[in-house]
Amino acid sequence: MRKKIVAGNWKMNTLPVEGLALAKDVISSSAGVPNDVELVVIPPFTHLNEVSKLASGTRVAVGAQNCARWEKGAYTGEVSASMLKALGLKYVIVGHSERREYFGETNQHLFEKIVLAHKHDLIPIFCCGEKLQERESNTHFDVVKVQVEEALFKLDESSIKNVVIAYEPVWAIGTGKTATAEQAQEMHAYIRKLLADKYGNDVANSISILYGGSCKPSNAAEIFAKPDVDGGLIGGASLVASDFVAIAKSF
Ligand code: G3P
Repeated sequence: MRKKIVAGNWKMNTLPVEGLALAKDVISSSAGVPNDVELVVIPPFTHLNEVSKLASGTRVAVGAQNCARWEKGAYTGEVSASMLKALGLKYVIVGHSERREYFGETNQHLFEKIVLAHKHDLIPIFCCGEKLQERESNTHFDVVKVQVEEALFKLDESSIKNVVIAYEPVWAIGTGKTATAEQAQEMHAYIRKLLADKYGNDVANSISILYGGSCKPSNAAEIFAKPDVDGGLIGGASLVASDFVAIAKSF
């Protein structure tokens, strides 16, 4: 049975005091979320230590928004997977489209990050998704196929089973223009078929594939009801505890 996950990517938002209060609100209001749904909060680096301590022993897991593609050393400004694990984190986002866009992250870079995340017992949330012009030119499947193959398909079977995938159509991120549930299901099913062709049906069916891109309390239930959607990677709505928890209750 695949894990159902609703993860909140706070991005570069909240100051430490505000972020700690947000995390407290999510933890305190999570009781009504179905027991088989895992809640994850993913704050900026500055809050990770305090939020991780706060969430310790609760049903809410904590993740980081990125990790370095090197083990350690002269990489100013970087944060390593081992440092993140030392904070007690469970997840790390790898390859968010904003990092691909603004920091030139390639699929090879992301493969290297995933290997280090696994080395330090972190679960990567690997992001993929097409840009608007790629969908409009009907090359979106080709784009996602390359992202998945180049970043993931050098992993062996045991490693790929320890990856969460997030399909985030770039044109839906932060725009209020959500993919339809049918569009989400179509791409999720395509990604799962890629995985099945490479690793077999059992492995493919064990991997959680999350949807991200303007997911809100108003649209989450329809999207999450699709057979190949296993939850969401939530941006803006994760900054409001009641909205984030409402999304998690949408299964
Ligand atoms: O990582 C999740 C994020 O990219 C989605 O953002 O604001 O469209 O929910 P948002």
